[in-house]
Amino acid sequence: EAQTGRYEAENTACEGTVDANHTGFSGSGFCNPPNSSDTGVQFTVDATSTGTATLGFKYANGATAGRAANVSVNGTTARSGVPFGPTGAWSNWAIETVTVPVNAGSNTIRLSAATSAGLANIDYLDFAKTTSSLPSSF
Ligand code: GCU
Ligand code: CA
Repeated sequence: EAQTGRYEAENTACEGTVDANHTGFSGSGFCNPPNSSDTGVQFTVDATSTGTATLGFKYANGATAGRAANVSVNGTTARSGVPFGPTGAWSNWAIETVTVPVNAGSNTIRLSAATSAGLANIDYLDFAKTTSSLPSSF
């Protein structure tokens, strides 16, 4: 069944500072992780069923190169090298979308830097559960 939810990065485990010095964010700020490899932000999302979820990360990247990221779900890497390309300014925001498998119940979704450049600034995660898995006996 369908399920959607928005998770603000300032309300979750941001492995850096929660900043508000660039306009255009929602909520009270955004997560600015350190500029180093494997640092990031972690969200806990309750899924109503097992299946595939679309994750939309709102981000800003005012640098000239991408800030590639890995996405893990419950400790397993689900997507590697997701580009998070430049947005032109730290106050210009875009959405990076990936699909990942999730379990019914609590899921730990971690976005982490794939390179020593670190992550982009992260505003929120939009979670959308698009499909349901039927039991394997069906
Ligand atoms: C600038 C910007 C920060 C950003 C940082 C970076 O300092 O103000 O918001 O996080 O660059 O390069 O990661
Ligand atoms: Ca940063």
